[in-house]
Amino acid sequence: MYQIYPASFKDSNNDGMGDIAGITSKLDYIEALGVDIIWLSPHYDSPQVDMGYDVSDYEKVYPPYGRLGDMDNLIEETHARGMRIIVDLVINHTSSEHAWFQESRSSKTNPKRDWYIWRPARYDENGQRMPPNNWRSMFCGSAWTWDEQTQEYYLHLFATEQPDLNWESQEARKAIYESSMEFWLRKGVDGFRIDCVNMYSKGRLDDAPVIDSKEFLQDAGLIFCNGPRMHEYLDEMSEVLSKYDTMTVGECPFTPDRDQVLSYVSADVNRLNMVFQFDVVETGTSHAGKFRHVPPSDWLLQFKAAVTRTQQLINDTNGWTTTYLENHDWSRSISRFGSDAPEYREASGKMLALMLASLSGTLFIYQGQEIGMINAPSSWSIDEFKDLDAKNYYNEVREQTAGDPDALQAALERIQFIARDNARTPMQWNAKRNAGFSESAEPWMRVIEGYEMINAEAQEQDKESVLWFWRRMLKLRKEHADVLVYGSFEPFNLEGEETFCFSKTWKDKQAIVVLNFTKREQTVASEQLHGAELLVSSVAKPVNNLAAFEGRIYLKK
Ligand code: NOJ
Repeated sequence: MYQIYPASFKDSNNDGMGDIAGITSKLDYIEALGVDIIWLSPHYDSPQVDMGYDVSDYEKVYPPYGRLGDMDNLIEETHARGMRIIVDLVINHTSSEHAWFQESRSSKTNPKRDWYIWRPARYDENGQRMPPNNWRSMFCGSAWTWDEQTQEYYLHLFATEQPDLNWESQEARKAIYESSMEFWLRKGVDGFRIDCVNMYSKGRLDDAPVIDSKEFLQDAGLIFCNGPRMHEYLDEMSEVLSKYDTMTVGECPFTPDRDQVLSYVSADVNRLNMVFQFDVVETGTSHAGKFRHVPPSDWLLQFKAAVTRTQQLINDTNGWTTTYLENHDWSRSISRFGSDAPEYREASGKMLALMLASLSGTLFIYQGQEIGMINAPSSWSIDEFKDLDAKNYYNEVREQTAGDPDALQAALERIQFIARDNARTPMQWNAKRNAGFSESAEPWMRVIEGYEMINAEAQEQDKESVLWFWRRMLKLRKEHADVLVYGSFEPFNLEGEETFCFSKTWKDKQAIVVLNFTKREQTVASEQLHGAELLVSSVAKPVNNLAAFEGRIYLKK
């Protein structure tokens, strides 16, 4: 699966923004990578407070991206190449500009009032107005906003401009299914990546436990996710989906419990085909507080344990798993888990590609990952970062520290390391102006310096490039799909702080994978390799020891 972020993929009309026609023009490139399915991040009409995850009309395309006809064309051209296309389904919330919310907020007696979650204020002992509970929104501040006109609060787990739909209303659910799902299924999309799929049922909206006693607002992800009616809602959605030939992958944060995950993806229940667990991408940090935690020095141990947990979801169960290191919500994997220093960048990118290609489940690649794109450089000031997540965090630090320059510098460094913007910069197609993304004088987001070195065209010419390595690995993954895609995963030496080694087994066939996560040579444990033959290495000329950031797959038959 290949994820496309429309704003940053390819600008066909040179207005500085990527668009649907731009995506269609690059389908041959995507096909050549060996991809089966495309996932398109939101393309719907939206005020773009959260880059389209705030939908104001499910049945329209965001005009700078194109029109409905451009989507029809993209769907047709994707299918003509034997690939499938899924779109993002963002139905935990809408934009505050959606007509449904406009009606809902207009009066307490409006028929759509209960399509969103409205509650009266609480008052503290001094008579001060307080939100209905202590939940912190995912983007800083309270998850409740006071609405002057009707004198009530509404809930938004994300930005103020992203009010949560009230899934308890059957009428709202019917309208959601019709407008957001059936409209696009009828147009021929092959399924959905489902945003916040475990947040629809929020239970009783109780206060979250107080973890930080200095603050009123508390992280509440474990409270508002996986509520009591989740299965019922997903079963209803499955009924809609069953009329079409579809696949689904749900975003499933705040769900550390394996049985809970299985209650969504086990084949018996037929709810979702698979979910994105957060264990691996949250390594050394957390979803809600990703800016607040600096990864510990032993992050590789956490990483290995997290990969093991998500891989072993399918051992002895009939559920299915996913494998990914990047998407539009996390920074670039080479910069996070390898090294983006010029001498190690390519080696890290290939080693991570080899690892991903050997893990079980459906593999997701995010645009630019296949050419080894890296994070924005440390020279970028806060003004280059566009995402409300990073901006809100920076402003919060500014307020809390009265603008202390050291605190702000530390905040900027966290942003440079982990902010979502790092993955949202324009795709680097060639060494020309704006990396060939757009001819506009000013692309909506700055292109990362160094694109003259890191771009698709240059890598196309060089068979030793990261791009060609990804192509080789995806081919190999299909040739050895038994062990690589379906095999059962067993790690060894989980305590090792330099390497990650594991086996993949399918019947009497076994693959042994060894990965060096350091800049130093490492020896390979010989015991497990007894009788194994080298299938592939991420370096051109492997020797005895593993080179810096080298990965290898051996086969035993
Ligand atoms: C998850 C999406 O991936 C993220 O980009 C978005 O901000 C939130 N959900 C809210 O829709």
